[in-house]
Amino acid sequence: MHWNEHQEPLGSALTLIHTRQSTSSRFLGEPGPDRAQIETILDAAGAAPDHRRLTPWRLVIVPAQKRPLLGDAFAQALGERDSQATEAQLQEAREKAYRGPLLVAVIARLSPALGTVPDQERLIAAGCALQNMLLTAHAMGFGAGLLTGKSLYSERLSQFFQLAEAEQLLCFMAVGTVVRGKPVTSRPTMNDYTTTL
Ligand SMILES: Cc1cc2nc3c(=O)[nH]c(=O)nc-3n(C[C@H](O)[C@H](O)[C@H](O)COP(=O)(O)O)c2cc1C
Repeated sequence: MHWNEHQEPLGSALTLIHTRQSTSSRFLGEPGPDRAQIETILDAAGAAPDHRRLTPWRLVIVPAQKRPLLGDAFAQALGERDSQATEAQLQEAREKAYRGPLLVAVIARLSPALGTVPDQERLIAAGCALQNMLLTAHAMGFGAGLLTGKSLYSERLSQFFQLAEAEQLLCFMAVGTVVRGKPVTSRPTMNDYTTTL
């Protein structure tokens, strides 16, 4: 392919990359992606660079009917971490389970039994998988954001997602329609993070 035949995909890719913004999961509403769109978004994870093809991540969709159970798990995780947590704080923790029409738990698979690829490389692959999904959701016109917090490391959440030994809950990805946008902020560019040896 001649170099200028790449210009159109390059332009589209750069537009997609540079216009993507995180949307706080608080500001993601209906409609969310439909079944086919969910499949397209989650399939994009499978195209991530993945050393030795271990698929060192797994995704768990949290459907609407399971949100109350996840909410209880968030509240219990907070209660176990902080016995002084107030009812308002417990309620706030519970509400996180209702974020985004599409809510997906992203889990890293770090078991040595999968293969000999170091954790660092597996986490890079999982991060690339996430970015593929965020960009795909953005290309479809949806907003998306990641949700993390101390509860990710709790026994309560591990049990809730039935994490195997050497699995770690990395984050939740929420996808939906942006109900409140945020201003475009300036981002670092090459000179901010690059040197030449
Ligand atoms: C691993 C990871 C965890 C994140 N956790 C949260 C979070 O818990 N809450 C939140 O509002 N944003 C979270 N974010 C989104 C970042 O805050 C966001 O990417 C950053 O502010 C840059 O904004 P941009 O994605 O629009 O460029 C997370 C991002 C990453 C990569």
